[in-house]
Amino acid sequence: MAAVLSQLAAPWTDETSVFGRDMLACLADKPHAISPKYFYDAHGSQLFDRICELPEYYVTRTELAIFRRHIYPMAALIGPEAEVIEFGAGSLLKARLLLDVLEAPRGFVAIDISGEHLNAACTDLRRSYPALTVTPVVADFTHPENLPLWHSTTGRRVGFFPGSTIGNFSMPEATRFLVAAARLLRGGGLLIGVDLVKDPALLHAAYNDAAGVTAAFNRNLLVRANRELGCDFQIDAFRHYAFYHPAQQRIEMHLVSATAQQVSLNGDRFALAPGESIHTESSQKYTVDGFRALATACGFLPRATWCDEAGLFSLHWLESPDPAL
Ligand code: AVI
Repeated sequence: MAAVLSQLAAPWTDETSVFGRDMLACLADKPHAISPKYFYDAHGSQLFDRICELPEYYVTRTELAIFRRHIYPMAALIGPEAEVIEFGAGSLLKARLLLDVLEAPRGFVAIDISGEHLNAACTDLRRSYPALTVTPVVADFTHPENLPLWHSTTGRRVGFFPGSTIGNFSMPEATRFLVAAARLLRGGGLLIGVDLVKDPALLHAAYNDAAGVTAAFNRNLLVRANRELGCDFQIDAFRHYAFYHPAQQRIEMHLVSATAQQVSLNGDRFALAPGESIHTESSQKYTVDGFRALATACGFLPRATWCDEAGLFSLHWLESPDPAL
């Protein structure tokens, strides 16, 4: 593998070379797996926005309804003069709901790996909140310990991580993220959205929508690899396969090759047999108690949880106590 990695050619830019190295590892290793972060190029982000509107995908509308219903108690727990740090800035719609009711927020820091998307969202936000200091930080928010925030910011930090993106982390990644976030947010806390364990039929439908948008979102990863890395995946020969694994309490999303095919990457050829799959995403579901226990083990103090009436989704306010106080 090291020999293959060292053959990476120069034409890749810094950004694509990271994708290239991960794709190379994905094709060289078995079972094949790659991080879901590569879904989100411009087209993938648009497809994800469409997923959020689908009738089967309860996640976004349920979380928004919980926010709308409980935003004042949330703001009261967060308290005045908070510096809000959003991990992964989407449309910032949920952040706006919060900023509308927070008492004298000191600033808003949005962290996202996609600079173009982030800067546009922050420009919009500045227009709506001219008195607020809005700072975009282009960085991989999955590693809060590496964020260029440690010494640069002042005031009480409050993390904001909606959308159940934590569900796309493996358990070790979620643990590492929460431990680092608890340190970063010491003296403040984290408001986080977490999708819940539920009827497998509902989960199955949410990741296998009738319009095929999730399938297109999944396949777009290969479209992106063909365009950016010069691969030659036969896109139409891949089946979208998403299923709920009850013992692991997670959705797994795969792309299964329907035929034998050879894929080239940077001068190497990799064979995929019929039925061979690439694992593209896991979406972990939690119970309320299970998530609170995880947060506690990572150094947080769970102070409040809000759910919808059907118990589909949860939002948690986790305090990060300052041992010096
Ligand atoms: C972003 N994330 C929380 C979504 C999820 O539900 O795991 C991504 C997604 N994948 C397929 N549909 C939506």
